[in-house]
Amino acid sequence: MENPLRLKGHTLIALAAIVILAILYATDQVVPASSAREAQLRIWLAARACGITALVLLTAQVVLGLVLSHPTNQSTWKLSKRLFPWHENLFVFTVSFVAVHVVFLVLDPYAGVGIGGALVPGLSSYRTVPVAVGVVALYALVFTGLTARYPKRLPTGWWLKIHRFSLVVLVAAWLHGVLSGTDTQSFLPIYVAIGVALIGTAGYRYWVVRRARGALRAPLHPSSGGIEP
Ligand code: HEM
Repeated sequence: MENPLRLKGHTLIALAAIVILAILYATDQVVPASSAREAQLRIWLAARACGITALVLLTAQVVLGLVLSHPTNQSTWKLSKRLFPWHENLFVFTVSFVAVHVVFLVLDPYAGVGIGGALVPGLSSYRTVPVAVGVVALYALVFTGLTARYPKRLPTGWWLKIHRFSLVVLVAAWLHGVLSGTDTQSFLPIYVAIGVALIGTAGYRYWVVRRARGALRAPLHPSSGGIEP
């Protein structure tokens, strides 16, 4: 049976439009700025605010994915029904914030990125390598998200192998933020919290999986009652 909480195409587009309009309104881009300097500052501030929001949303999405795939969730916690719609629908918000992040940086003549730097890794004159890492992270994010949404278009099981790559996407986006951002110093607690959340949840999940595999592989001692002597 189809999940009633699963958002459909037109709802996703409407939500993305609302997010973009809310950002435009909140940053006063709709109302003209009173001076050229104010207008330039606003667009730059909005770009950075959207970057950090996208990173936090992406972290939430990856952490939820790790909880969903945790062996103890399948056996004990049983949170999948409640958490899955969040994990799935966060994608559209993450991508919307990244899109606004990129559009504002392209529109900002002082950012030194330009349309080429935003689309092709290595073409940004501002912090070439860290920005290139962001561009690659964006393409990888869209790829991992879309392949998970349309798994039947791929050979069986491929979407999950690709989906696990989301961990690398988050690490790349994190590195990009730390190395290219103006606010790295002030955002340090957020970057540390993201690192701790990722290492904590991924470490716990893979440790439990390894332990279960180890227990299956270990020869049973006769005294454990597992096999007949
Ligand atoms: C997964 C995708 C992305 C995420 C999560 C992300 C996130 C971030 C974050 C958190 C910052 C730091 C903001 C600050 O310190 O003020 C940042 C800065 C930056 N990002 Fe991205 N970004 C992504 C993709 C991109 C792409 C595709 C571009 C290409 C235009 C880009 C260009 C930049 C630039 C130029 C800065 C420096 C802004 C400044 O502080 O002056 N980002 N990004």
